[in-house]
Amino acid sequence: MATAKNIAIDGPVASGKTSVGLSLADRLGYLFLDTGVMYRAAAWAAVEAGLDIDDEQAVSDLTAKIKIEIMKPSAADGRSNDIFVDGQDVTWEIRKDYVNNNVSQISTYKQVRKVLTEQQRLFGQRGSVVMVGRDIGTVVLPDADLKVFLIASVEERARRRYNEDKQRKGSADYQQILDNMIQRDKTDSSRAVAPLVAAKDAVEIVTDGKSKDEVVEEIYQLALKKG
Ligand code: DC
Repeated sequence: MATAKNIAIDGPVASGKTSVGLSLADRLGYLFLDTGVMYRAAAWAAVEAGLDIDDEQAVSDLTAKIKIEIMKPSAADGRSNDIFVDGQDVTWEIRKDYVNNNVSQISTYKQVRKVLTEQQRLFGQRGSVVMVGRDIGTVVLPDADLKVFLIASVEERARRRYNEDKQRKGSADYQQILDNMIQRDKTDSSRAVAPLVAAKDAVEIVTDGKSKDEVVEEIYQLALKKG
């Protein structure tokens, strides 16, 4: 069966990119990379090192130095991968609020993006990859065989994140999640380098009211057509 070789999936925070991308990769037998975890890992490392997040040079230098490893998930507890920074397991740490609150900021830094983009392109060279993020179709893999841009209202996305957090942590604050999401959308869309926009040749899919499986099926059919 012929399918698209590299698939780029972009979209705003909690648009379903990761769960859709992971399930699609599984179905196609492709490799999966959630590029958001790399920005999260860099933000975590900066906080851990006690850096001033506004110090662009220091954060960029550190990002170039750390080794981020993305491994197959070691547990079926909702993680898409195991994430290590310089050998330390940060899989859940990078999902915490102090990382959420700093990651958009460091992802506006040109050098941070350059370093991580190079690593992502190397991964893409393996072929048969589903890669998800904000700038995959526009910057990281502009030659991807299929590009998808997922769209969902901010309220729907906040609801999804609220349900996930509640299930995993036992409690969650909807208003706080919504406020944080609106702020991150703004930073991600308005930054000068690689802002969140759909590639001109991306297929836009509105996911409000659709299940993960419905969205996966839609992209799967597009991938078959591209083969
Ligand atoms: O998808 P996520 O929420 O895990 O992404 C975390 C942050 O990383 C998000 O605020 C935007 C940034 N990011 C980015 O700028 N470019 C990417 N390709 C992926 C994520």
